[in-house]
Amino acid sequence: MADTLRDATIADLDDMTEIMCSAMPMDPAWNYRFPRRKEFPEDHWRCVREDIEKILDPGSRSHRSVKVITIPRTNGKGDRAVALAVWELPFLGHSEISSNNDCTTRRDADLAHIAAFRSVLVASVNKYFDTPYGDSQVQLYHLATHPDYQRHGAGTRLLNWGLELAMREKKPITLFGSPMGTKLYTELGFRLLDYVTVQVDGEEEKNRILISEFFTAKVTNSLLKIVGCPGPRVFKY
Ligand SMILES: CC(C)(COP(=O)(O)OP(=O)(O)OC[C@H]1O[C@@H](n2cnc3c(N)ncnc32)[C@H](O)[C@@H]1OP(=O)(O)O)[C@@H](O)C(=O)NCCC(=O)NCCS
Repeated sequence: MADTLRDATIADLDDMTEIMCSAMPMDPAWNYRFPRRKEFPEDHWRCVREDIEKILDPGSRSHRSVKVITIPRTNGKGDRAVALAVWELPFLGHSEISSNNDCTTRRDADLAHIAAFRSVLVASVNKYFDTPYGDSQVQLYHLATHPDYQRHGAGTRLLNWGLELAMREKKPITLFGSPMGTKLYTELGFRLLDYVTVQVDGEEEKNRILISEFFTAKVTNSLLKIVGCPGPRVFKY
């Protein structure tokens, strides 16, 4: 795949919405929060788009890096984003988890599931990430590759970008993982901290998310070779 890794711009908004709407349902946590996305695809698209628009907002970009992998469009006009990564960089400014229920009048979501998910997420961020590291961390907020372009190395490349940044800044990377991302993260040397279960009182249905962190200082060159970083690279501290 002839692809390019670059900063996302507002011109990528629709491509990024498409990536999220097609890739994220592969994560059970997405379906737990948005179980009626197929019945109300227009609400789903609108709310996901609003979320991405907030992420791309220049006013909040100073503490965030949004990267996309693009391929040339078939009509020869410009490029198309097929994978994305959103990195929160709290050491550059205040970081916050955007709430999916900011989008009003949505019919695709289960608001109780969203609230339960968010409360577990906030508690876990506090316990596993913010208490030990404070602002001194690089946090992976979103990672997604359009299903038509998965398994071509885009996810690895986007993760490697964050890895290099974390190494330069001498900060750990923290993330909430999905079952699909587990192999990718494990191969990159992430350490599984915990599994947390999200469940609404009185319901049988539950969802599990995994919490991982990665200590850049412990990564060796041989580990980086396993995941296919191009050429020999030496990271100095
Ligand atoms: C996780 C994800 C971003 C990986 O993106 P990608 O561009 O396919 O990543 P890579 O091509 O670098 O593949 C890395 C590894 O991911 C795993 N993987 C990727 N796609 C997969 C799929 N469809 N089924 C099973 N494993 C898959 C594989 O282990 C793969 O390595 P391999 O091909 O050598 O076996 C992508 O699968 C995705 O968007 N999933 C849905 C959203 C999600 O779960 N995001 C992670 C949230 S933390």
